[in-house]
Amino acid sequence: MAKMQLVVLPLLMVAALFEGSLAMSICDISEDGLSACRPSVTEPNPVDPPSIDCCKAVSGANLTCLCSYKNSYLLPYLGIDPDLAMGLPSKCNPSTPVPNC
Ligand SMILES: *[C@@H]1O[C@H](CO)[C@@H](O)[C@H](O)[C@H]1NC(C)=O
Repeated sequence: MAKMQLVVLPLLMVAALFEGSLAMSICDISEDGLSACRPSVTEPNPVDPPSIDCCKAVSGANLTCLCSYKNSYLLPYLGIDPDLAMGLPSKCNPSTPVPNC
């Protein structure tokens, strides 16, 4: 029993940290925006076109910043497909300049 607690407690703490980091915004996309976009950036069967709420969030996003995450482990770690994420701005608004990355 005592052994179990030793193993479970650190896991819970890691989970709490992870939840905390999800509450942050990424590249000016709010937490709400991220959850609105999630169905459109996860395989399989991404929702296309993205929801209006997602597009609102993406329209205010810092795309330069998003580029810097393209090859990072962070997006896949959050269950986000980087290629789908990069495609969001142009799916929402075809006149959006595609981030050059
Ligand atoms: C966007 O992100 C880049 C890289 O993080 C940063 O250098 C730049 O200042 C940001 N631009 C805006 C408008 O916040």
